Amino acid sequence: MPVLNVRRYGDPILRQKAQPVEAVTPEIRQALADMLETMYHQVGIGLAAPQVGISLRIILVDDGPRGPRALINPAIVEQRGTVRGEEGCLSIPGFFGEVERSEWVRVEALDAEGRPLTFEAKGLQARVIQHELDHLDGVLFIDRLPPVTRDRMKKKIQKDGLPEDAPHHAFAL
Ligand code: NI
Repeated sequence: MPVLNVRRYGDPILRQKAQPVEAVTPEIRQALADMLETMYHQVGIGLAAPQVGISLRIILVDDGPRGPRALINPAIVEQRGTVRGEEGCLSIPGFFGEVERSEWVRVEALDAEGRPLTFEAKGLQARVIQHELDHLDGVLFIDRLPPVTRDRMKKKIQKDGLPEDAPHHAFAL
């Protein structure tokens, strides 16, 4: 299973709206396996397919002791509350910011076998799901920061670029 190249801020694929998966084919299974390998190699707790150059609606979410969960064509069908918390992104290494998200979400998706599933998530897992779903719509966490903070980050990225070897952080998505 190859580790895929993680696309970085500035790559146009990160701004595209990803396409729904029509059927769980062997190619989709291979993509899932490669994404999994990549997520753990990068020490991430979530990964969206566009981040590895695949413009399809697939995300991986680390579910702690239960292990990683693959979600195909995921959608948030219900949400409650708001909470702020720090986020980073494997595609924007070295940058972090406080993002407001829903505290609780209900998700519908297909699992890795193409079977429909629905579940509730809260706390960190809910945050990861919302961050990864944003990736499927071409949205990055910096888009959700206050304009002043976002502009400062963009200017710094333009001036210095992204670090080649950012220190791993417990919250990279
Ligand atoms: Ni991300």
